[in-house]
Amino acid sequence: MIETRYLSKVYNDLVALDKLSLTIDRGDIYGFIGPNGAGKTTTIKILATLLRPTSGQAFVCGYSVNGEAKQIRRKIGYVPDEFGIYEDMTVLEYLEFFAALYELGLAERKRVIRDVLELTDLSYKENAQVDSLSRGMRQRLALARVLLHDPEVLLLDEPASGLDPRARIEIRELLKELRNMGKTILISSHILSELRELCNKVGIIEKGKLLFSGPIEEILEQVRAHDVIQVQVREAPEQARQLLIDHDLVKRAEVLSEDGWLEVQIDDAAEDHSFVPALLVEHRFRLLRVREQEIDLEDAFMKVTKGVVG
Ligand SMILES: Nc1ncnc2c1ncn2[C@@H]1O[C@H](COP(=O)(O)OP(=O)(O)OP(=O)(O)O)[C@@H](O)[C@H]1O
Ligand SMILES: [Mg+2]
Repeated sequence: MIETRYLSKVYNDLVALDKLSLTIDRGDIYGFIGPNGAGKTTTIKILATLLRPTSGQAFVCGYSVNGEAKQIRRKIGYVPDEFGIYEDMTVLEYLEFFAALYELGLAERKRVIRDVLELTDLSYKENAQVDSLSRGMRQRLALARVLLHDPEVLLLDEPASGLDPRARIEIRELLKELRNMGKTILISSHILSELRELCNKVGIIEKGKLLFSGPIEEILEQVRAHDVIQVQVREAPEQARQLLIDHDLVKRAEVLSEDGWLEVQIDDAAEDHSFVPALLVEHRFRLLRVREQEIDLEDAFMKVTKGVVG
């Protein structure tokens, strides 16, 4: 659905995008993550055909951003990171204005507007002035607007930024609904925890370079430290620690908590970690649980951007 090949953008002498190659398939919800200035907006604007790449290629729905902008615009809904100002317009007038641009018939227009208002939970605000809406409502209105022409692809530049937790949840629920409708969505953010639930793929970008692109599970797998496990014993964790640390294949053992959890780092020479529970049981420790180290997207992101993952 979306593909970039060696996409680069240079502003004067600043390389904002450096040979970015990524693929987003139909139905993917792709979380585009990176710190400020990483190149997220630049990428999204190029895909939305609002900015020309310096070199490289980008395709949306099979059309090239170099020369087929018109076809692409019909297929996409782009929500920029900043909402324009529309004074003295009601929500309904605002949507009618944009619906008119899509050359829909009057009856069709009314139906579509009703649908998008309902989807974005703004029906009760249809006669409110756009300027009087809260930031969260404006974000939903911006989404309502780009849904008028029923685009296949949505390009959303930080749709949840500046929103309070409740408004963020509302946006997330709305995006889930759009996902269930089969839309392909690229969404940029620095708030990682939100993306985990929503996205099936992520791309991590820093200083214009794509550090990772692929299924969320894959990145978590890559950064998961297979050599660290946690075990819980019913009693005597300190004795358990002593036992473990004396073993040749244990590099480190620490008591984590009062309730008997220990963290054990295993030597690379060990084939797997199965000897750890075996050893404990052999020495009559009552083993309650064994688990791999928990890892979340935030950790994964930090590791990837620090170059820990090769
Ligand atoms: N019109 C421009 N002229 C010159 N430099 C620009 C221009 N637009 C962006 N840049 C630079 O390109 C780099 C990437 O910017 P971009 O806006 O794409 O980052 P971003 O990932 O969207 O950041 P943020 O999280 O702050 O929105 C930055 O260093 C920025 O200063
Ligand atoms: Mg940006």
